[in-house]
Amino acid sequence: MLFLCVVALVGNAGCYDQADGEYGRPDLDGAKRKLATRQLQEGREAYETHCIGCHGAEGDGNGDAAKFLHPKPRNFQLAKFKFTSARSGQLPLDEDMKRTIRQGLKGSAMPGFGQLSDHTVVALVAYMKTFSPKWKDQQVGEPIPIVGNPYSYDQDKSAAIARGEVIYHAYSQCWSCHPAYVSGDQINVYRRQLDSPEFPGFRETLHSAVGKVNAEDQLIFPPDFRRDFVRAGADAETLYRSIAAGISGTAMPTWVDSMDYKSSDGEQLVSTADLWAIAYYVEDLIRQRPPKLEGAVSVRERPEPIYLHGPPPKAEQEPAEQPVEEVVDVDF
Ligand code: HEC
Ligand code: HEC
Repeated sequence: MLFLCVVALVGNAGCYDQADGEYGRPDLDGAKRKLATRQLQEGREAYETHCIGCHGAEGDGNGDAAKFLHPKPRNFQLAKFKFTSARSGQLPLDEDMKRTIRQGLKGSAMPGFGQLSDHTVVALVAYMKTFSPKWKDQQVGEPIPIVGNPYSYDQDKSAAIARGEVIYHAYSQCWSCHPAYVSGDQINVYRRQLDSPEFPGFRETLHSAVGKVNAEDQLIFPPDFRRDFVRAGADAETLYRSIAAGISGTAMPTWVDSMDYKSSDGEQLVSTADLWAIAYYVEDLIRQRPPKLEGAVSVRERPEPIYLHGPPPKAEQEPAEQPVEEVVDVDF
């Protein structure tokens, strides 16, 4: 070791460390530290520019704007994230946080920051991790399995949607929190199709969502897909992820591990692939949302603006003459 070091000094090439068998250039760790410090600095600056007003200087979700917001900005000190590809309750992957920062969360105050460079978004994620010791103490969650999509080649998704309606109501009973979208009698017809006992009765409010208290003691309503925003995204792939993984800190369970159901004679009646059917069904429900709701801000993801009093007359569609005060653009 001593000999090698002396040679190294003479050759100015580094010191061979027999203990771990690596060339440990004396300044490598220092350089790494410097890079990490620079990244955290960049993350901190971006955070203080874009995020602090809602998420707070300490990352506790208590920024100046927080008292006006429902749902509240996320408290990063708890390291509980809702829209992730890890199972509910586990730490999210960096990709999940990057996606949220880029795309925002519809129907909440969380804006999308599509204008930030990848470098800055990565730095923001690194900086957000400094708010909770969990990032040092715990493993990041495993991404949920994405099973093969049996409907991916179907141009027309109506078979998937019809199957999703059955599973949503008869097997998963998503309507124990979200609304049901068919009658109680129809649910029992679907139950028979799945070789399952009928329900003797249903709650009176079968077609409305049931309020649920979340981990922060706020009452939240599971979305009525024909009415409300879903936060993470309304395409089948994102819905698969939201449904399969579940939503940490809320009543929304992880579904990916409980989609295996066989009849008494061993016939597979429900399988994980049915999560795709549910995703297409929910996507279809979301498509049925009205473009605007009377007296309320519209709850539809759409690229074009929403005109409260009808679209402006054609002649006035020049940018300078658009009646901007009548446009409610809910794409935050
Ligand atoms: C105008 C207020 C506002 C600003 C500005 C804002 N956020 Fe948020 N953010 C929210 C709200 C509200 C939520 C919670 C939404 C919910 O619970 O559905 C949230 C949630 C999040 C989440 C949690 C996602 C999850 O899966 O649970 C992350 C991560 C996040 N914000 C990062 C950021 C970063 C980084 C910035 C700055 C670049 C930022 N936010 C700026 C309001 C804001
Ligand atoms: C025990 C109650 C419960 C059950 C059962 C349940 N959910 Fe949820 N779900 C919730 C709650 C609560 C939320 C809202 C979480 C939030 O916004 O903070 C939610 C949110 C969602 C979202 C929105 C994700 C987003 O991006 O905002 C989808 C999609 C969803 N649920 C689908 C389903 C489907 C499909 C089923 C059945 C397979 C189901 N849920 C069963 C309680 C439930």
